[in-house]
Formats: sequence, structure tokens, C-alpha cells
Amino acid sequence: MPARRVSAARPLAAVILAGGEGKRFKSESPKVLHDLCGRPMLAYVLQAAAGLKPKQIVVVVGRQAERVKETARRLTKQRLVFAVQQRQLGTGDAARVADEALGRFSGDVVILPADTPLITPQTLRALIHHHRKTKAAATVLTVEPADPTGYGRIVRDERDRVERIVEQTDASAAEKGIGEVNGGVWVFDRAALRPALTKLERANRQGEYYLTDVVEILRDKGEAVEAYRCGDAAEAHGVNSRVQLAHVAALLRARTAERLMNAGVTIVDPDLTYLDDTVRVGRDTVLEPMTFLTGSTRVGTGCRIGPGVRAHDSTIGNGAAVSFSVLNQAAVGPEATVGPYAYLRPGARLARRAKAGTFVEIKGSSVGEGAKVPHLSYVGDALIGPGANVGAGTVTCNYDGERKHRTRIGAGAFIGSDTMLVAPVRVGRGAYTAAGSAITKDVPAGALGIERAEQRNVAGWATGKKAKAGGRTRGKKGGAR
Ligand code: UD1
Ligand code: CA
Repeated sequence: MPARRVSAARPLAAVILAGGEGKRFKSESPKVLHDLCGRPMLAYVLQAAAGLKPKQIVVVVGRQAERVKETARRLTKQRLVFAVQQRQLGTGDAARVADEALGRFSGDVVILPADTPLITPQTLRALIHHHRKTKAAATVLTVEPADPTGYGRIVRDERDRVERIVEQTDASAAEKGIGEVNGGVWVFDRAALRPALTKLERANRQGEYYLTDVVEILRDKGEAVEAYRCGDAAEAHGVNSRVQLAHVAALLRARTAERLMNAGVTIVDPDLTYLDDTVRVGRDTVLEPMTFLTGSTRVGTGCRIGPGVRAHDSTIGNGAAVSFSVLNQAAVGPEATVGPYAYLRPGARLARRAKAGTFVEIKGSSVGEGAKVPHLSYVGDALIGPGANVGAGTVTCNYDGERKHRTRIGAGAFIGSDTMLVAPVRVGRGAYTAAGSAITKDVPAGALGIERAEQRNVAGWATGKKAKAGGRTRGKKGGAR
């Protein structure tokens, strides 16, 4: 057996296998680009691999290679080398293509399937550590899932060493009874990997080059193959079907929820709270059921969010309360209140203690400190000063059919109910508008803008109307009903 250097400084390369067809997904899109809690599945292994700070990351692409490459580049700052697998001939062939791309690299190579998104950098580090400590030629990560169906089974010899790995389709009934499976993640000494890959054959039920066959090849050469057992089977959960995708998404959400709860967030019902692992939530915030926090959403401390909130790429300041509302690229200030039933669209900004109440839609506008838009309003492209009050039914008429225009409402202004603010228009500081007015001209500070026909009361109208109606009925039908 060749002697190997054990050193933390040994160079490391990572390989991500993302070239497969993903047949079991029955999809037009490559499997690894399917969304998993807000990001393409590929993002997770890329992040885990980058966390190891490898010298090189090789991504094997095959099906819709250009799309996969483009997404991978967008997902990481790390420089990636792409290896194109022309035909999807199996994991062994994918590894061979990656090996070619590694060029003259010498050191350890971590191989990760792109469909194992729950793997953590900690586990990868432990796997690499085990590999180096035992001076193995190859080390495979193994787990014991509740249901091993579909995974390659680990066959151990009389000395409890890994003898071979048998795929589900090739396994005998007895082998199917083995609970320990191949997690799909490997570490190889590059020097041992290359010659082993050239010996792979397609003598199996699927007619593929199996990476798993390197176990026997290496053992036949007298090389040591190690297994590193990972206690958490979820980490090696593969995603071969949409059923498994949903299952992994649930595990990922549970992991995120647990992390947040351990950091001081109350989650009333974690199973009914949908959190991307990219969101941040501060201490003593309470997340009520049916809350969806996604993308780059940041929630401060001591907030009450939900029930029924969807916030995407939004920020919510300390002590704010949001219920039954939808926020997209919005910013809610500290102690502000939103909802029930508000819709904050891109560029909606609420300052400290501002309010966007029931059936209120706000877009591209800022609402000043303590200003209120309590009911039934549309506010678009507006600047609302601090302390202003926007009455029920107010609409900023910001669009003339061609262009958008701005509305400016000064500090402490009072907008009467059902005011139509025909932009561009300004209502000055402390000014008023009368209820029901269509305001087309600027209202100076402190003034009242009123635009209404004067009210006329018609005396006795109701009695006259009844008499008329009664007369007609009698005339037609000849009697009262
Ligand atoms: C594989 C393992 C199995 C293990 C399981 C863990 C083999 C032969 N089987 O099975 O022992 O229990 O992973 O999840 O290795 N890929 C390519 N090119 C190909 C084929 C696959 O790049 O030609 C990529 C896929 O995109 C995928 C990964 O390799 O990300 C694994 O392939 P997949 O077909 O999902 O393997 P499994 O059947 O799950
Ligand atoms: Ca798989």
C-alpha cells in the first residue's frame, strides 16, 4: 500500500455531480435547478463545497448544461470549472469527466452528488478528517435511513470493512435487507481515483458506469477503503423524485426553524411556518402560523409576524407587527404596524411607528414616522410626511396611462376620506383635503383643498318616490301585494 501524507494542509478539490438526467423528476428543467426553499437545489451542495475552501471546484454538467452552468455561476463567488459529460453514463462516468478537468491536481478530492442538499460542511469536514486519519485511498459517507430503498447498500466483510456497494436494482433480497447505505459523498486520494475510474465497467442492470464499483477495484489492488458513518441520515437524503424534494424541503424548514428557535425566536407551529434558510429573525419575535419568510427577508427583535404573512426580500424593524399581509421588497420600520390585509409592494417603506392598515396597497412610496394609512387605500409613488393621516378610500392616481407621477404629502397633513390625489400633486405641511375631493392642484401648507359640487337636499323626496312606485304597481296589477 502506498504511504500517504496525513496533513490538514493537504490540497483539497471538490467535485459536484450535476450532469444526471433526473428521469424520475419527469421535468423539462434539470433536476438540480428545481427550487428548494427559495434556491435551486444545486445551491446547497455548492455552498457546502465552498465552505471547505477547496483549491478547485469542478461541476459536472450534462443535461441542459448551459442553464446549469449559468445558475451555478450566479450562485457562488468561487471560481468554478465545468466538465461537460456528453452522455449520461452514470456516476462513475461523471467522476471520470471531473477527474479529467482536475488536470494536474494532487491531493484529496471530495465528490458530492448535486441532489444531496442537506449535507453540512461540518459532516464533510469530519469525513475528510476520517479519510486523512485512516490514510485511506477512498472514504465513503454512509447512513442508516429509516427506509433504505433506492440507495446503494454497504456490504461489509468479516472484519467489518467495506467490501463493496450494491445498487438497489442489482441487490439480492438479502442485500436489500442491509440498513447501511451509500450517502453518495466520497473522498478520494486523487492518485488512487484516476486509475480506479479507468477500470469501471457497465456490467450491471442499468448498464451504467457506477462510481460505487471503485470500492472493489481499490480493494483488489490492496488499497484501503473506509466508511464514515454519519448519525443524521437526513444529511444524505437524496432527491430523485418530487416526493423526495418535498420531503427534503420539510426537513430543511424544520432545521431552519430549530436554528431560529434556539436563537430566541418563538415559532408557534413550526410545521405551519415556511422559512427559507436565508432569512434572519431577531430574538423574542413571535412567528404565528402560516407565515412565509423568504429570500433575503430580515425581521428584527420583538416583532409579531402573522398569522398569514408572506414576506419576500423585505425588512421588518424591531417591535413591528404584521398580520395577514403580503410584503415584497418592502421595508417596515420599527414598531410599525401592517395589516390585516395589506399589500406592500417593491419600494414601500414605512418609517418608525407608521401604519398600513386594512386593504391598503403601497408601492414605491415612503410613509413617514407615525404616519397612518389605516384603511382601503392605494398609495403609489408617494412621499408621505411624518404624522400625516390618509383617510379611508384615498387613492394616489399616479398613472396617466403613459407615465407614473409622484404625490407628496407634507408632515402632519390630513387627507380626507375618499380623496383622489391626481399626481403630480403636492399637499403641503399640515394641509387638509376635504373628503370626496379630486385634488388636481397643489394644496399649500395649512390650507384646505376642497373639490366638490355643493350638496343639495330635496325635501320630501322619499315620500314622493314611494307614492310614484305604489301608483305604478296598483295600476298594472290592479291591487296591493
Ligand atoms: C447514487 C449511488 C447510490 C447512493 C445514492 C445516494 C451510484 C451508482 N449510486 O445513486 O449508491 O446510495 O447515489 O444518493 O453511484 N450524475 C451525473 N451523471 C450521470 C449520472 C449521475 O452527473 O451520468 C449525477 C446526478 O446528477 C446526481 C448524482 O450524480 O446528482 C447521483 O446520481 P443519481 O442518478 O441520483 O444516483 P442514485 O441512483 O441516487
Ligand atoms: Ca440520487
